[in-house]
Amino acid sequence: MSETIISVKDLFKIYRMGDLEVHALRGVSLDINKGEYVAIMGASGSGKSTLMNILGCLDRPTKGDYFLDGVNVNTYNKNQLAEFRGKKIGFIFQSYNLLARTTALENVELPLLYDRSVSGKDRKERAMEALKSVGLAERAQSVPNQLSGGMQQRVAIARSLVNNPVVIMADEPTGNLDTKTSYEIMEIFQKLNEKGSTIVIVTHEADIAQFALTNVVFRDGKIIANSAVKTRKDAVEELKNLPILEDDVFTI
Ligand SMILES: Nc1ncnc2c1ncn2[C@@H]1O[C@H](COP(=O)(O)OP(=O)(O)O)[C@@H](O)[C@H]1O
Ligand SMILES: [Mg+2]
Repeated sequence: MSETIISVKDLFKIYRMGDLEVHALRGVSLDINKGEYVAIMGASGSGKSTLMNILGCLDRPTKGDYFLDGVNVNTYNKNQLAEFRGKKIGFIFQSYNLLARTTALENVELPLLYDRSVSGKDRKERAMEALKSVGLAERAQSVPNQLSGGMQQRVAIARSLVNNPVVIMADEPTGNLDTKTSYEIMEIFQKLNEKGSTIVIVTHEADIAQFALTNVVFRDGKIIANSAVKTRKDAVEELKNLPILEDDVFTI
């Protein structure tokens, strides 16, 4: 039996701005199992980030349930949610979100700072290990503006890994990067997945999505396709059959 890490049931999200209502999610249900590698695709404005922010426990749905690692996160208050999030999720942003005047190593140590069971020495060792796994051990003492965009994103990936989360999530992780660097980042995700990490990424680029094994397509706040596939070759083939309109996906 495969273990379900993420289960969302009939999620709705309505943003209210004065009299205006934006229905960003309109009944989204999705299960993601341990070891899966899912790409969420769809045009700008289709609700991808809204879903991702809910999955990442950065926001709550207007209606519907979200189970993460067996827990209904709706039952948690703000502080409980923040703590649970820190333990369970590694989140990677398009803009890296690194602390500017802080070394790569210290940035990667951050998620462990709140865990009192981890000593300072262990924290450094684990951060170094994570930096090594993204090929940046030798840049541990560099601050973000001494690193290229791709390197900064690799630091962010190392930071997302350091506390062994049950799932790694990334919203448009290659959105600020050129094609070659994007592929290098996607290779890192692929390797992590091959070693057992569960990964969910958002992208609007088909050539980025083909690195994933499952493609979920959004349109107007709903999932219009969900193709779980078993091998990487199948994933590339399957992508060709998905009902993606030209406006849904732009290639770089
Ligand atoms: N904080 C917000 N307040 C109001 N509307 C929002 C907010 N965030 C997103 N939206 C709207 O919700 C819809 C879905 O947006 P989003 O989830 O960001 O889509 P995507 O990530 O696919 O581009 C869009 O119409 C967007 O304008
Ligand atoms: Mg978005």
